[in-house]
Amino acid sequence: MRILIVEDEYVSRRKLEKILSVIGECHSVTTVADAYKLFLNSIKENFCFDLISLDIVLPDGCGIDLLYKIRDLEKRFNIPESKRVKVIMATSHSDIERVRQCVKLGCNDFIVKPFNKKKVLEKLQKLVPIDDVCNKERGTVDIIEEIVKKLKKGDLGLPTISNTWMLLQDAVSQGANLDEIAHIIKQDPTVCYKIIATANSPIYKSVKKIVKIEDALSRIGLDIAIQHVHNIYAKSYFHDNSGILAEFSNDLWVHSVAVANLCSIICKTLQIELEEDPYLLGLFHDIGKLVLIKAISELLKMRKCDDVKMQDILMVIGNFHSELGMALLSAHNFPYVYLKVAKFHNHLEGCSHLSKEILVVNLANEIVKSQGYVAGIYVPTELNSLISYKILNPGRYIDEFILKLKEVMDIATLI
Ligand SMILES: [Fe+2]
Repeated sequence: MRILIVEDEYVSRRKLEKILSVIGECHSVTTVADAYKLFLNSIKENFCFDLISLDIVLPDGCGIDLLYKIRDLEKRFNIPESKRVKVIMATSHSDIERVRQCVKLGCNDFIVKPFNKKKVLEKLQKLVPIDDVCNKERGTVDIIEEIVKKLKKGDLGLPTISNTWMLLQDAVSQGANLDEIAHIIKQDPTVCYKIIATANSPIYKSVKKIVKIEDALSRIGLDIAIQHVHNIYAKSYFHDNSGILAEFSNDLWVHSVAVANLCSIICKTLQIELEEDPYLLGLFHDIGKLVLIKAISELLKMRKCDDVKMQDILMVIGNFHSELGMALLSAHNFPYVYLKVAKFHNHLEGCSHLSKEILVVNLANEIVKSQGYVAGIYVPTELNSLISYKILNPGRYIDEFILKLKEVMDIATLI
């Protein structure tokens, strides 16, 4: 369902967008002129609106005149009565009489401000073929309520991390050499095979075929090879093909691996020393999202409901993931710096002490999103307006970061 909201007052407009986005795709405008233009285009392009919520007093004219023009256009374009847009007028108490008269002009109903969700949905149920409006609304609310309950009860946990991956993380943090790393990788034949295959791939052009993991590590270079190994484990950790949210889960692993790699690139290029491995800090910054995806996926599967909108799910994930990520990492005894990154990577203004770790992850997160590695809702941001950009001052290195990021991601997404 396509919905046009014509409302100049900010609070009412946002309220309507929130309520109506549950049942359809909302387009908002604040003037008669913009509304008319949009409505005319929608008729010409045969992509008509199903519902219009129309304010009476608008900055450049009157909603009633617009209603008249809309009905006139529909007649001129021979739109049958049954297919004409339903118009609901939003009005204040003092205008009720005028609106009653408008019904004669073709408005279908009116709603008196201030309105709430219940009032709006009750009116809509009589108007548009959405007999399941409240059910849809209910489905989303139920999912949110169940997730919040699980959060409160501490029923959400981190997926288990592979033992070999943990061993590798320990070994790397203690500065293990090539033979020691090779010894760990050998414990996992799949990873061993993938690293040898990468070393024999055209990326590392060489005629001599490699069969030993030690040779593979030295051809690839130990640091890069370790990142490949991390990428392989991260994929199986983040990527869940079976769930209803498989696509989002795939986006999340690509996003997390991109942030992880870019954190390493930024630290290396700008010679920043972090308390913890930049790759892992980047990898786990959105861990709350992963856990929420898995939990929501399970709930949806169990309830077999297909009436929950992706937009609502993304909203829940966006709202809860930072707090949840921090709580989970804390419950699993991750160092404090991971917790702070999980909680504040998206809103530095909330953090009283901006550590290098938070700044690096925030900058990497924004660059990565600007390059299309996005998981969830993305609002484009000017990089140079970021606090992290101003403090880390990457300036001329940004292009180099992006170039290197693309190179590593080409390999990471092949694995
Ligand atoms: Fe992120």
